[in-house]
Amino acid sequence: MQPNPFKLERYFAQHEFTARHLLCSSDPESMSIGELLALEPDAMDGLRETWLGYTEYPGAPALRREIASLYKRIGENEIIVHTGAQEAIYSFMNTMLTAGDHVIVHMPGYQSHYSVAEALGVSVSPWKAREEAGWALDPDELETLVTPATRALVICAPHNPTGYLPSREVFDAIVAFARKHGLWLFSDEVYRGLEHDPADRLPAACDVYERAISLGALSKTHGLAGLRLGWIATKSAQVLARMSTFKDYLTISNSAPSEYLSAIALRHTDALIERNVSIVRANLRLLDDFFARHADRFAWHRPRAGTIGFVRLKRAGAERFSAELLERTGVLLLPSTLIDHGDAHVRLGFGRRNMPDVLAILDTYLDATDTSTAS
Ligand SMILES: Cc1ncc(COP(=O)(O)O)c(C=O)c1O
Repeated sequence: MQPNPFKLERYFAQHEFTARHLLCSSDPESMSIGELLALEPDAMDGLRETWLGYTEYPGAPALRREIASLYKRIGENEIIVHTGAQEAIYSFMNTMLTAGDHVIVHMPGYQSHYSVAEALGVSVSPWKAREEAGWALDPDELETLVTPATRALVICAPHNPTGYLPSREVFDAIVAFARKHGLWLFSDEVYRGLEHDPADRLPAACDVYERAISLGALSKTHGLAGLRLGWIATKSAQVLARMSTFKDYLTISNSAPSEYLSAIALRHTDALIERNVSIVRANLRLLDDFFARHADRFAWHRPRAGTIGFVRLKRAGAERFSAELLERTGVLLLPSTLIDHGDAHVRLGFGRRNMPDVLAILDTYLDATDTSTAS
């Protein structure tokens, strides 16, 4: 199997560690190991004593218990820990889909949600977010997309790249549709917990539907992407059995230090969420002002959750705008050409502490290019 190159990841491979100012990151502000260890008095001793043999293949039981506490109806044996959410996406697609199947995928979206399936010979129908409605999904469209070969519906909420969060009503309609057709509901929930108003948090799909697979990770909600730790949670014994077996050909088991540190992070989920959402809220206030002042250049739907939004450029192509901005200022945006969504949008990240400084550089650049066609 040879999936198409992951365009967004190739772009980050080229620029993430060389661009002077990142303005499109989806992971919030991270922290050092020292800061994480400071959350618990004995944490340093525990790290020193962490045994560096193989770990249990689905993840250490203590870690899985912490993960299970994020859900209402999931036990520690209904979780498989992976090396990042990405490994779990790859494993799900490889184990639960086969050539000739059909899947419906929330788009624009994260490329592995459709490229891995396509590489397996699975046909993909996009379920298109509607920009004019704030990037909303219309559940009524699902009946027009389903075929006898449809096996799975893939959604991402809170959404990358638009920041869209369905209402409870829409979420329930999605689950009802999946149940009616007996579909796997692969629910990418890696930004779950980063709702800007906690009252908006949706249930985890695995808590409400027996054929749902909830995807979680420490990369986004907790801001700890370097731990490379993700998981799936599901009531389906079939999914658990197949994905366990497949993992033997991937990473077998996880990194012991990472599992140890991840358990600490999970015990402090609420505090880490509070920290990350407060950065997001402050940044969004600046963005409200920024987009009000630049309404002639940009259109934007203020996200209700997560750390990213999808901004339409009114004057220039996204690829050219992003390339010129990077060259002249060192500010990195992500053009929509890399998300298979035309050339009119950029992804903007607002989860980092330095966003106000980077936004100011963009502001100055816009003023300087106001009379040109640069945006
Ligand atoms: C929607 C979505 N799913 C999965 C991933 C992969 O997460 P991880 O870094 O934990 O592998 C990302 C990372 O950007 C993402 O945005």
